[in-house]
Amino acid sequence: MQGKAIAHPNIALIKYWGKRDIDRNLPAVGSISITLSELHTRMHVEFDKALATDVLTVNDEPDERMLPRLSVCLDNVAGVDRPRARIASSCNFPIAAGLASSASSFAALTVAAAGAAGKSFDTAHLTSLAGQASGSAARSLLGGFVELENVGEGIACHSLCGADDWPLRVVVAITESGPKPVGSTEAMEISRRTSPFYANWVDQQAQDLDTARAAIANRDFETLAAIAEHNCLKMHSIMWASRPPMVYWNAATMRCLQTVRQLQGQGVGVFFTIDAGPQVKAVCLPEYASEVEAAMRATTGVVDIMTTGLGDGARLERQE
Ligand code: PMV
Repeated sequence: MQGKAIAHPNIALIKYWGKRDIDRNLPAVGSISITLSELHTRMHVEFDKALATDVLTVNDEPDERMLPRLSVCLDNVAGVDRPRARIASSCNFPIAAGLASSASSFAALTVAAAGAAGKSFDTAHLTSLAGQASGSAARSLLGGFVELENVGEGIACHSLCGADDWPLRVVVAITESGPKPVGSTEAMEISRRTSPFYANWVDQQAQDLDTARAAIANRDFETLAAIAEHNCLKMHSIMWASRPPMVYWNAATMRCLQTVRQLQGQGVGVFFTIDAGPQVKAVCLPEYASEVEAAMRATTGVVDIMTTGLGDGARLERQE
């Protein structure tokens, strides 16, 4: 009745922002991401008939805040009449700060819970279960470049290119390590209801996905860089134009963008992307990784740097 799993966060290059069905957590748009290798969440799930309620520790500290969402995920995986569970999560990067910790957490939880419950679900089913808990978590079931499709009534992902087939590097610049002010589910709803740009975003996404998919197939870094930055800034424009406005950036976020622009001006193969938080991810060709890392580290306001390659999908490490 125990399962232990590991999953890595993923960073979207073509973003998911907005839901078409809140109850089933179906995204309004497809998305394309890269799964990272060095950052990870480990989840240990142990079902125990003696427990009256689920209990959660995050990095060895009791945590009540995330527990309700985790309990729903366990119900979906193991059934509502399951025994209560002891859940222990450990994460080697800041949580809820725009670094996709919910993606790696729910991907790892889904796989660990299925293992603990003795269910041998296939990846497609695990993807759909993880996606019900957190849209972006579905993508962490797979490694390398992953597309989350926006078709049909379920949540489905497929691999576009393996981690080793185009080994890009990602320099994550942490500009602030606290949790974000508005969670993504609430922020997406505010955007959908109030942003004058939201409908255009949804309309244009298929085109951005086509461009990125072709760029990945051709290993065309310049085209991928241009469409990823465009799609990221478009997503943030929606948030800025919402009521109330949602600005996740700080001054160091902007400075990191300037650093990336300077590097690009010197011919360095790098581009930026930013999620619902103030951190900047600089994606680069492997030969430029140390130059990009040094430049980001030297940017005023950057408090920490993590450099990573592309990694594998979520997997079970132990089952008893
Ligand atoms: O899966 P959620 O609810 O954490 O939303 C993810 C939203 C973004 O990170 C901003 C974009 C994305 O596609 O990952």
